[in-house]
Formats: sequence, C-alpha cells, structure tokens
Amino acid sequence: TVGNSTNIVWHECSVGKHERQKLLQQRGCVVWITGLSGSGKSTLACLLNRGLYKREKVSYILDGDNVRHGLNSDLSFKAEDRAENIRRIGEVAKLFADAGVICIASLISPYRRDRDACRAVMTDGNFIEVFLDVPLHVCEARDPKGLYKLARSGKIKGFTGIDDPYEPPLNSEIVLKHEEGSASPFDMAEKVILYLEEKGLLR
Ligand code: PPS
Repeated sequence: TVGNSTNIVWHECSVGKHERQKLLQQRGCVVWITGLSGSGKSTLACLLNRGLYKREKVSYILDGDNVRHGLNSDLSFKAEDRAENIRRIGEVAKLFADAGVICIASLISPYRRDRDACRAVMTDGNFIEVFLDVPLHVCEARDPKGLYKLARSGKIKGFTGIDDPYEPPLNSEIVLKHEEGSASPFDMAEKVILYLEEKGLLR
C-alpha cells in the first residue's frame, strides 16, 4: 500500500532521467526560492529563467501564486493548506527535475518543516534552497500588491510576517541578503546560475 492506494506497481522504462539529461545537456534539479511576500521571489525566478535560457538551458517556474490558480486552487492560507500547497509543488518539482528540467519553485513556504520535506523528496540531493533574506519593513514598504496594507488594517487575516509566521531557513545553499546598495536582482540571478554551474548541473 502506498498512501491511500493499494495494488499499485512502479513502472520503469529504458529511456530514463539519464538519457533525457544527455539530450538536454543539463541535470534536472530543483531551485527552491523562499522568502516573504514582496521579497522579490517572482522577479528572481524570472531573471533566473531568462539567464538559463540565454545559456540554452531548459528551466520552468512553479510560482506559488500562479499554481494556486489551478492545481492548488482548493487550498487556503491556513497552516495545513500551506503545507499541502508546498508538498504538491515539491512533488511536481521533482517530476520536472526527473524530466531533466531545472525547476524553479518560487513560493513563500513559511515553514521549515515543509521546505525540508521537499528537500527530502529529492533523494539525489539536487535541491538548492535560495533564501531571499529581505526584512519585513522593506517588503512592507514595497507592498507591490497592497496586501500588507490590507493585512495591517485587518482586512486579510493570517498574512505571513504580520499575523502568521515565517521561519527563516537555517541551512540554505544560497542566502541573498538585502542590504543598502546590495546586489541587483540580475546579479542575484547570476549568483544562483554560478552556483548551478559550479555544482556541475549545467552540462
Ligand atoms: S505559501 O505560504 O507558500 O503557501 O504561499 P504562496 O503559495 O507562495 O502564495 C503567496 C501569495 O499569495 C498571496 N497571499 C498571501 N500571502 C501570504 N499570506 C496570506 N494570508 C496571503 N493571502 C494571499 C500573496 O500575493 C503571495 O504572493 P507573493 O508573490 O509571495 O507576494
């Protein structure tokens, strides 16, 4: 029995991950971007996607906000639904990585336990956590969607960073810290690409 299913058998095929990776000249992996709302996750994901494309590498973005429009449209923002949102995106990201694609998952993923569970799912170790370490007051000042304002006035309940927790990662592969005069989003994306290159994932 697997989960709630019985009598199921895993099928193997002679064309597998190895063959696909050879065709694509890259290794499938998961780049997991975590951070507060307004920390710049989507911007970074997009620049990363663009930078990889320029190097002729295939990547695909799974953005929390976007996936919540379809696959995860049944989920709210309460803790157990966030956990399920993250679990599903982790599993889908694993499929993309198995397909040979560099999967960029970009979602708040506020709980350490949920992120670590996604890491554990990637048994080959090709899980790169990127922490966008931007202080709440900076995200709040940006407030690109006006959601912090709504959260402060009580019109949104359980908003991450305001009246819902965010547990910062302790052991991210890459920490991108916001500081006065710090790197541009473009430079941040280049830093991540350099990491992937050094890890041998882009050949
Ligand atoms: S999570 O916590 O990982 O499940 O969140 P995620 O799927 O990334 O979705 C975050 C986006 O949803 C909007 N939103 C909220 N965020 C946090 N808390 C609450 N209560 C909430 N309600 C709606 C918000 O626009 C987030 O987008 P980003 O891109 O992070 O700013």
